[in-house]
Amino acid sequence: MKTEFRHEPLSQLACPALVVYGFEGSPAAKGSVGRLPAETRGFLEELQSVGELTGRAFECTLIHLPAGLAATRLLIVGAGKSEKFNSRQLRHVVGTAARYLRGRGVRGFAWVLGEAAEVEAVVEAALLADFDPDRYRTERDNGKHLDHLELATGGEALVPDAEAALERGRVIGEAQNFTRELVNEPANRMTPTLLATRAEAMAARFGMECQILGPAEIQGLKMGALWAVAQGSEEPARMVVVRYWPEGAPEQPVVGLIGKGITFDSGGISLKPGESMHEMKTDMAGGATVLGAMQAIAQLKPKVRVIGVIPATENLPSGKAYKPGDVITSMSGKTIEILNTDAEGRVVLADALTFAKQLGCTALIDLATLTGAVTTALGNITTGVFGWNQEWVDRVLAAARTAGEKMWQLPVDEDYRDQYKSTIADLANTGGRPGGAITGAMFVGEFAGDTPWVHLDIAGTRWANDEKPYRSKGPTGHGLRTLVRLLTDLAA
Ligand code: BES
Ligand code: MN
Ligand code: ZN
Repeated sequence: MKTEFRHEPLSQLACPALVVYGFEGSPAAKGSVGRLPAETRGFLEELQSVGELTGRAFECTLIHLPAGLAATRLLIVGAGKSEKFNSRQLRHVVGTAARYLRGRGVRGFAWVLGEAAEVEAVVEAALLADFDPDRYRTERDNGKHLDHLELATGGEALVPDAEAALERGRVIGEAQNFTRELVNEPANRMTPTLLATRAEAMAARFGMECQILGPAEIQGLKMGALWAVAQGSEEPARMVVVRYWPEGAPEQPVVGLIGKGITFDSGGISLKPGESMHEMKTDMAGGATVLGAMQAIAQLKPKVRVIGVIPATENLPSGKAYKPGDVITSMSGKTIEILNTDAEGRVVLADALTFAKQLGCTALIDLATLTGAVTTALGNITTGVFGWNQEWVDRVLAAARTAGEKMWQLPVDEDYRDQYKSTIADLANTGGRPGGAITGAMFVGEFAGDTPWVHLDIAGTRWANDEKPYRSKGPTGHGLRTLVRLLTDLAA
């Protein structure tokens, strides 16, 4: 999508569609509609008086050959109550416009900037709205995608970093769509090998170092936990490492981003029910989000060292698969009794965290579709946040807030530890149903040791089950904007 500023007076701006938003109560006056010429607004006031223009959230009113404008169409999007308007709502309004117009075969539009600070959010939101999970539909497209977005200033001076804001919006929106593409891939097209290949290609394109470990190295480094999960699959496992090492960055922190990369989770011998097993092609969403975040920072260039680590394997039953009751030795030396082969995420993350520390990471964040229990607690709306180091947790929560991603801290507490004690090994890999998201998180945290660590359980938020006016259903890329924000904040 081509993106640029346009500075001519709004009345003279020739484009397929000019887009403004209006608020409930006085949709023809309040909001960016207020910037339209009087002649155009007079017409809108009539629409308002007959009740056709209400300003209710995401209402779309399309006018062809609008009076007083050079634009072919004028689209007024309802922005809801003005008291409730924030950057989250702004994104949704932009997304709604994008999806509404492309659905009618319009390939681009000019967004009337309400204020200059909108730039980043507008570009990002338009890119995110243009995503559909229909890659494998043969009649895909029909020309129904956006190819340009214009930011109309109406001749008002831009804030000094407007060009940079446009670029940030583009970089982050594209990175999030890259994550969504990866999550959307079915497991036959996203094996551990293919995930590693995608990581390598991305790293090469954006000038990062990438290292891929295969079965021999995984065994050689005694990654017994990753190895155990991988045993049941014919597809060879991979440990993916991507390094972002900018010149002039301080030696510390070295942030480790660890993403669960189970390319298909059948549950293994503790087989899942068939009904929604296909959804487990998304069990590498944590890994995909780490790759997307790395793609973004490689372009935004914050001065902070980052290492992405993704343990990638399938979790399948077979004659070679690991079994309930097995005791395995993780890379850390800690032994794990497997009580349920479906609690495989924490097992592969155990070795990934150990490896990240060995690579020199001094602060860790893991992202994982770890538990169904987090969805019971927080639904598909909010990501669960866990960690012992409150300062590090608070930084992540602050980044989530500015990034507009909903995240909520759940507790970790010594008293839950008994739940995943094993009678014969150091740890058991399940802690029972009660507080399942907490015991899952704490199990992973056992491998962080004293290193500050935050765990994000994205099992609920990785996927949208319903379509909204501003986004398709399917993979969300949730968590990426928080990571990018956190890393740029750390560098500032
Ligand atoms: N990948 C699943 C968790 C999951 C469930 C992600 C639904 C997305 C949607 C994970 O590996 C898993 O199976 N967890 C088990 C843990 C249990 C056996 C302790 C679960 O949540 O049931
Ligand atoms: Mn599982
Ligand atoms: Zn899983």
